Amino acid sequence: MRAVLKLGGSLLYDDTGRILINMVRDYAKGVDFIIEDGHSMVIVVGGGRPARVFISAARQLGASEAQCDWLGIKVARNNAELFCAALGDIAYPKIVETLDELETAIQFGKVVLMGGLNPGQSTNAVAALAAETVQADLLMNATNVDGVYDRNPKISGAKKLDAVTVDQLSEILAGSGTRAGEYKLFDPVAIRVVERSKIPTVIFNGNDPLNFRQVMKGARIGTRIVH
Ligand code: UTP
Repeated sequence: MRAVLKLGGSLLYDDTGRILINMVRDYAKGVDFIIEDGHSMVIVVGGGRPARVFISAARQLGASEAQCDWLGIKVARNNAELFCAALGDIAYPKIVETLDELETAIQFGKVVLMGGLNPGQSTNAVAALAAETVQADLLMNATNVDGVYDRNPKISGAKKLDAVTVDQLSEILAGSGTRAGEYKLFDPVAIRVVERSKIPTVIFNGNDPLNFRQVMKGARIGTRIVH
């Protein structure tokens, strides 16, 4: 199986902004098993807390939204570098910065790592575009909630959905932020790409680094996007 795993940056930092080294290590161990089993993988890492710290400072200093996005893009690439270090030899040694480059990198049979690509989107769009480019069998979105809820999960009575259509997802996320650092679960680019290429997608809780392997085995966790 060829899979793309998007790791939300929020999974990598604690509340004080410290990097959760053991989390990175545990994910790397899990990826090792997946590769040993003969699967291939692209991992897209989000910006998380440090991206938001930089973006907020830059915005106060008068930066344009595009400049703010570029900060997020670069921080996400730095986060991806951490995985490159943890994965060692099984990783393609350079963080891939374009989809063109991804097409070449994937030929080497290594785990390919990416952060951000272009302004105006989030790393969820990067993951969707990567999945489209490498014709992935599965796009896994590891985030810090259990899946997609029928309304804001902080509102009492919100119900987690086992499956959603792209239209339902767009409706649920309507009105989500589109400023740098404020994209939500899925941004409009990600939704469009997943829809047009009918990419099998699962959104699930990545706080447990074992979950993505369960998702790859077909376990019914998180929320599946159905086409
Ligand atoms: P993300 O918002 O995707 O990071 O990227 P994240 O950590 O995955 O977010 P959470 O924790 O799951 O919510 C950080 C910022 O980098 C910029 C955007 O401003 C984005 O908010 N970015 C990222 C881009 O502009 N283009 C990209 O291709 C990727």
